[in-house]
Amino acid sequence: MLLRTAKDGRDVFVDARERAPLAATRDMFLDANGEAVRDRSINGALAAAIPGLPAGLEHLARKYGRLPLSKSLAPAIRLAREGWKFGPKNSSMLGYRREVLAGNAAAAALFLRDGQVPALGTVMRNEDYARTLELIAAKGADGFYRGDYAKRLVNGVRQAGGIWSEQDLAEYRVVERAPIRLKHRGFEIVTAPPPSSGGVALATIFNVLEPYGYPQLDKVPRTHLLVEAMRRAYRDRAVYLGDPDFVQVPVPLLASREYAAGLRAGINPDRATPSDMLPSAMVAPSRPDTSHFSIVDTEGNLVAVTQTVNLPYGNAVVVPGTGFLLNNEMDDFSVKPGVPNAYGLVGDDANAIAPGKRPLSSMTPTFLVGPDRVAVLGTPGGSRIVTMVLLGLLEMMDGGSAQDAASAPRFHHQYLPDQLSAEPEAFSTEEVAALKARGHDVRVGDRSWGNMNVVQWRRDTGAVETGTDPRWKGVGKGSSSEKGSIYR
Ligand code: DON
Repeated sequence: MLLRTAKDGRDVFVDARERAPLAATRDMFLDANGEAVRDRSINGALAAAIPGLPAGLEHLARKYGRLPLSKSLAPAIRLAREGWKFGPKNSSMLGYRREVLAGNAAAAALFLRDGQVPALGTVMRNEDYARTLELIAAKGADGFYRGDYAKRLVNGVRQAGGIWSEQDLAEYRVVERAPIRLKHRGFEIVTAPPPSSGGVALATIFNVLEPYGYPQLDKVPRTHLLVEAMRRAYRDRAVYLGDPDFVQVPVPLLASREYAAGLRAGINPDRATPSDMLPSAMVAPSRPDTSHFSIVDTEGNLVAVTQTVNLPYGNAVVVPGTGFLLNNEMDDFSVKPGVPNAYGLVGDDANAIAPGKRPLSSMTPTFLVGPDRVAVLGTPGGSRIVTMVLLGLLEMMDGGSAQDAASAPRFHHQYLPDQLSAEPEAFSTEEVAALKARGHDVRVGDRSWGNMNVVQWRRDTGAVETGTDPRWKGVGKGSSSEKGSIYR
């Protein structure tokens, strides 16, 4: 969560990221032959890291909020108890996780009907979750991390084959960190520091792009340069980035203009650089859920929050009586150098598993601060979050509205796999051909990505506009662009 308090103009990043259990080990997802077993870092109890959200909510309410949790959680409690209507997007994401959920009785009881994806319009109620939230509302984070609830949670995880302990829960702490700040085209961008990779990658990409005059270029050469910058930033993510409490991340270096100049020297304006040709420090190279919301209040306080259980429906385990799914954030670690995770991301020592360590993230809650306006943005979308935020920022720096930023077609490169992936609408047939001619392995998929939510506040006119992602029916409140919500 990225916050700006209007009265002192202070920006702070509240890190409520999950942590590896204290019993986690570097090689916990490797089999006897040293091969990565992807299934175990994604499905079932071992995949779950220690949640940070309850601690984050209490921290927010106590230090920055005006409402007690009993008030701010009330609408969520009501929604859990009275139910919400199962929609088309819910259906497609649940379809993707149905089989695994069917393997966990408590999860199946909550999210499936006779083992199948519920019909559209089914009212989804969750009394256990309402009670979990009530406990947090009444007792704060302690209601979750200590006492009977914590015991039950730990027992449930252990019974499902996990390694959580009561100490893991009792020790969880939120960390306040200084955001990454950078300047580009007359704007200041305030964004997520490690253990997110987002801010560092954005800094690298913007610094690499700076001298090219890319805003004036045609779409194909502009896309080529963006992709070459993305590729290099994601290579550095794979090599250098991890939890800054465990590894020394060279942020000032990676975010510097001098470093970017070095990266730029290797860019051929007419040809894609094969990712394999970029130097890699990887020891052994041989061998989709999340939501984001953006807020500007009447005083000018800013909040950008990205929250996740990692893949849709997390690890598909519900501890009976709790009403919520555990995450599979352990898969955000590099389980073995060079072995891709569920998002195809690779990593090395910097993001290896260690007890109590936070897995590297791509979540990138961001502020764009210009002379006459401020925007708050972010999105879910796994490894593509950083480049979606990048394209949203570019859209707004080019003069686009909040809605333009949320709607703009998306493309992405993450170093490995060495592919330029794109949404169906991102490029014309001619543009695809031109990018291929430059050596890009263009993969136009049949799906769209992300769920971006943007608020833009024009300080000159006082106007506030919202942008919600047309790919998923979000809702912008408190402005002229208000849309109906599917949850009502
Ligand atoms: O922290 C991360 O980078 C991932 N756990 C985010 C996962 C995500 O965005 C899934 N959403 N569609």
